[in-house]
Amino acid sequence: MTDTKTKFYITTPIYYVNARPHLGHTYTTIIADTITRYKRMCGYDVVLLTGTDEHGQKVERAAKAAHTTPLEFADRISAEYRALWQELDLPVDRFVRTTEPRHERAVQMLFRKALDQGHIYKGSYEGQYCVFDEMYVDEPLPGNLCPECKRPTERVREENYFFKLSAFQDRLLELYEKQPDFIQPDSRRNEVLAFVRSGLRDLSISRTSFKWGIPFPGDEKHIFYVWYDALTSYITGIGYADDELQFERYWPADVHLIGKEILRFHAVYWPAFLMAAGEQLPKQIFAHGWWLFADEKMSKSRGNMQYPQPIARVLGVDALRYFLLREMVFGQDGNFSRESLITRYNADLANGLGNLASRTLTMIEQYLGGRVPARSAAEENDRDREVAALRQTTCEEVARFYDSYDFSRALESIWGLIAEVDKYLVEFQPWLLVKEQSKWARLEMVLYTAYEVLRTVTRLAHPVLPHATQQIWQQLGYTTRLESESLSPNWWNEQKPAFQVAAPQAVFPRVDKTEAFERIEAMEDEIRNPAATPSAASAAAGASAGSSPASAGAASGKIGIEDFAKVEMRVGLIKSAERVAGADKLLKLLVDIGDEVRQVVAGIATAYTPEQIIGKKVVVVANLAPRKLRGVESNGMIVAASAGPDGRPVLCTFTEDVPVGARLK
Ligand code: MSP
Repeated sequence: MTDTKTKFYITTPIYYVNARPHLGHTYTTIIADTITRYKRMCGYDVVLLTGTDEHGQKVERAAKAAHTTPLEFADRISAEYRALWQELDLPVDRFVRTTEPRHERAVQMLFRKALDQGHIYKGSYEGQYCVFDEMYVDEPLPGNLCPECKRPTERVREENYFFKLSAFQDRLLELYEKQPDFIQPDSRRNEVLAFVRSGLRDLSISRTSFKWGIPFPGDEKHIFYVWYDALTSYITGIGYADDELQFERYWPADVHLIGKEILRFHAVYWPAFLMAAGEQLPKQIFAHGWWLFADEKMSKSRGNMQYPQPIARVLGVDALRYFLLREMVFGQDGNFSRESLITRYNADLANGLGNLASRTLTMIEQYLGGRVPARSAAEENDRDREVAALRQTTCEEVARFYDSYDFSRALESIWGLIAEVDKYLVEFQPWLLVKEQSKWARLEMVLYTAYEVLRTVTRLAHPVLPHATQQIWQQLGYTTRLESESLSPNWWNEQKPAFQVAAPQAVFPRVDKTEAFERIEAMEDEIRNPAATPSAASAAAGASAGSSPASAGAASGKIGIEDFAKVEMRVGLIKSAERVAGADKLLKLLVDIGDEVRQVVAGIATAYTPEQIIGKKVVVVANLAPRKLRGVESNGMIVAASAGPDGRPVLCTFTEDVPVGARLK
């Protein structure tokens, strides 16, 4: 924990485990990750929380239908969420499962505080209940459909514990009044205001009609209402019940990021639950719109889910992130289409940023021998100054858009600058300037302008395109991690110099539209209709980690190509090696894997001395979760054969030279 930095605590919803993760869930986690990366570059100590919402009647029923226990059911889907975030390189800092003991302690603690303050009472309730939304519907007439999801409701009569929500009406209205940005965007705020002004009824926060939930302290016949349980995960993950210091550091949340359908729970119930317990309130609830597919919300019940993996595997994770953030207009719904995804990829990424990077770097390499161009005041004309001014205003504008989480406009602004410098290059034609020696000074100025814009957009786009921008950054001549470069105000006036560019490599190769479309579609089909017989859980959950096409073959000892594709193996160059004190078998290595240098601890010291392996090209498993060996962090694994009866390690290497960072397929 770094106390000197300002903290920033951000959450996604914790996702239900009754359906496997789809593009909608991925969207929220990608926005949260983008904000996290941006805030870190602005110098904040950021904590990002996500998790899985595992209790409730829905899960209990789904598990029963699948002939499994609710916990086994939840284990599977929760693991699938974690695996997906890892595959998409969305590193979360806190992952809460509502079935964890620490969460039970947090829920009970929050409840006890509200109980002690007299905000809870016991009563009975009879009404129509929507199991899908886990809520009583307001007009309790039998036969009524749920107003939210239009599903049939059920008659429920229960003796319950009630939360005195009605007593918080005025305080909530005062909150919305005093903190106009508590609910964002504004259009959503108006919906909530209207709802609260129309009058709040007390809320039943316990259930007795089923068992799958957190027991009430002192009255174990009751379990907590699933939303009381789920919302509390936001404080569980930062130590509410067991780490006071951590809780004090990070609470209140700076933003709860959610989809618009769960706004009422977050903007009305959650602040009231916290007020009742005397806890501070989150600073902001930000509700985004939905991804629609052919104008309908993507959801399990409609069977129109799209999955993120095929897009990430065919076009790359950055293309997925770019599309989702660029295409969804702030606060509105967006229609998802693979056509526009691939069109945008080719237009904005391959032809836009990718092309600017490769043409600028190639010209610098060819015309200046790779030397980073310098500015020359004598050669600078009005047009150069105009581009420089646009560069600065773009930086300012993008910061404003990022700060208000308006990513589509932030990206529009960055791509406006890319288009401008493309035009500029056509105007000044460096490829002609190079032909006349008298124009070389001017040539350098033109390349300087292009280089300057390129390194600016690389840095600006990093929160959205973390992988591609890191590659371009290195090609620009930097050895640092781009994430450790600042994006705090005025950063554009203080850029560190680079001296020599590296060989340009395409970061977004153009794709053939039909072929990419077909590959994505085929992978989608495989995820949707796993070849093997679905496991018990998948029958109810749609599909699950255990029934994905790849792992379906596991029973026969085989894995599918999808499982293999999850392992990222790269060519690494060992830069340094040393023994790990007190461990005979371990060597601590620094390995260059193309876009970064990793510390990897390898169990090869019995077969190799440090001197023997420095400079060797090896195979590195690059996407293994970090772990500590004898207290030394290892980020990846070196592949070796295990030879002979005593398992002597023999490093895996290549029969001919291969570029560092190349991927093994
Ligand atoms: N478990 C509750 C949340 C509890 S938070 C204390 C829940 N889970 S969910 O699995 O249904 O996830 C809903 C969230 O996933 C939405 O609020 C949104 O963030 C994201 N999305 C799910 N489908 C989506 C779209 N089609 N489009 C955009 N986001 C979507 O509700």
